[in-house]
Amino acid sequence: MTLPNPLPNGLPNDVVLGGQRPLRGRLRVPGDKSMSHRALMFAALATGPSHLVHVATGDDVAATRRCLERVGVRVKQSRDGSVSVRGTGASGWREPDDILDCTNSGTTMRLMAGILAGRPFLSVLTGDASLRKRPMARVVEPLRRMGATLDGRDDGRYAPLSIRGGPLTGCRHELAIASAQVKSALILAGLQATGTTEVVSPALSRDHTERMLAAFGAPITVDGLVVRVSAGAPEPFDLVVPGDPSSAAFFVVAATITPGSDVVLEDVCLNPTRLAFVPVLQRMGADIEVVPRGARAGEPVGDLVVRAADLNATVIEGDEVPSLLDEVPALAMAAAFADGVTEIRDAAELLVKESDRIGTLNQELSQLGVGCEPLPDGLIIRGGRPRPGQLKSHGDHRVAMAGAVAANALDGETTVRGWGAVASSYPEFLDDLASLTGTA
Ligand code: S3P
Repeated sequence: MTLPNPLPNGLPNDVVLGGQRPLRGRLRVPGDKSMSHRALMFAALATGPSHLVHVATGDDVAATRRCLERVGVRVKQSRDGSVSVRGTGASGWREPDDILDCTNSGTTMRLMAGILAGRPFLSVLTGDASLRKRPMARVVEPLRRMGATLDGRDDGRYAPLSIRGGPLTGCRHELAIASAQVKSALILAGLQATGTTEVVSPALSRDHTERMLAAFGAPITVDGLVVRVSAGAPEPFDLVVPGDPSSAAFFVVAATITPGSDVVLEDVCLNPTRLAFVPVLQRMGADIEVVPRGARAGEPVGDLVVRAADLNATVIEGDEVPSLLDEVPALAMAAAFADGVTEIRDAAELLVKESDRIGTLNQELSQLGVGCEPLPDGLIIRGGRPRPGQLKSHGDHRVAMAGAVAANALDGETTVRGWGAVASSYPEFLDDLASLTGTA
């Protein structure tokens, strides 16, 4: 159920959910957001036409598309939703005549910074209040070392960022954090640099840039945690973007914690660097079957079959964390419904996501009567007995959807305020939930 006051994007301000409605049936979630950003950018770096189907529908990917259009790339959306990109190669990009607005999208800002660092013109990247608070030195400093001139508020720590691009020199970067956005920005700069660019990560982070660039013929190799790239570009390509596992994760948790549920999530990207939430939920007792169905653009794809199950607490820490960080809001709700005390550690990066997710999840779990304790690098969640409450999104799409998942599983009504935040990644989330709960 939704309350009145729709936002300009048609989404309701607040939603009310509840009633322990089981999820049943099949769903194809929107195209993967990380892959959609990259598909648009790589198509714009190729020379010739590319054709993309099932591109993510949210505002974040729309921001990438608008940035590319501002540098002169022609992008056309057909009535069936497919997107054609007329790639000009990086050399065809033109100085934008206005600021590039990345809205809420960290991936747009950081990856575009990597490409624009090699372009011989001035670009200025900005974003909404949340993005302007997120750390940018992690891309600014290594890109400066390759020869580009970047600046921003507080000596380049925060957006708006100005980029005076130019000739780049390849070098070796040893990253302090396992960030796919930083790694990807440096790879994209490396495609335009002289010599070899090496990016060494401290742990595995999502590797779509490496897989997709290699599949599309760009000069990139991977050796464990080391990625090497030299000057070159991808070829034009056609791609049906697989479903987003981070969006699917909300339905996996919703089906697990709502008794009587039985769902199939079709054609999801099964990249292992995105799927660590599945073994975590399985060891908590979840009934999830992964059915592989081939590969596209170097990415395994397949279905997730999920039935309701009782959960026990677990400890989430160490090397599995970078591959499930975006799923922590969904996992936190699973932990709220599990028996026992769940600990999430080694996840300080949660502090610098679309909201400070340690703080916001702690608040929202408390609203549901769940005992919770914030840690400097995670959360302790005393699960078992959540009850309906009043939740807020804090402007964070994943906090909003996590709230909806918990709300649906509770007997009684829960309000999620600030629902419009879901526009970043999944504007049609409520419709999809309603189609599975039979309330559409
Ligand atoms: C993303 C990388 C991750 C992830 C984000 C999308 C990407 O961020 O949290 O939602 O598409 O490369 P970090 O690189 O900051 O870890």
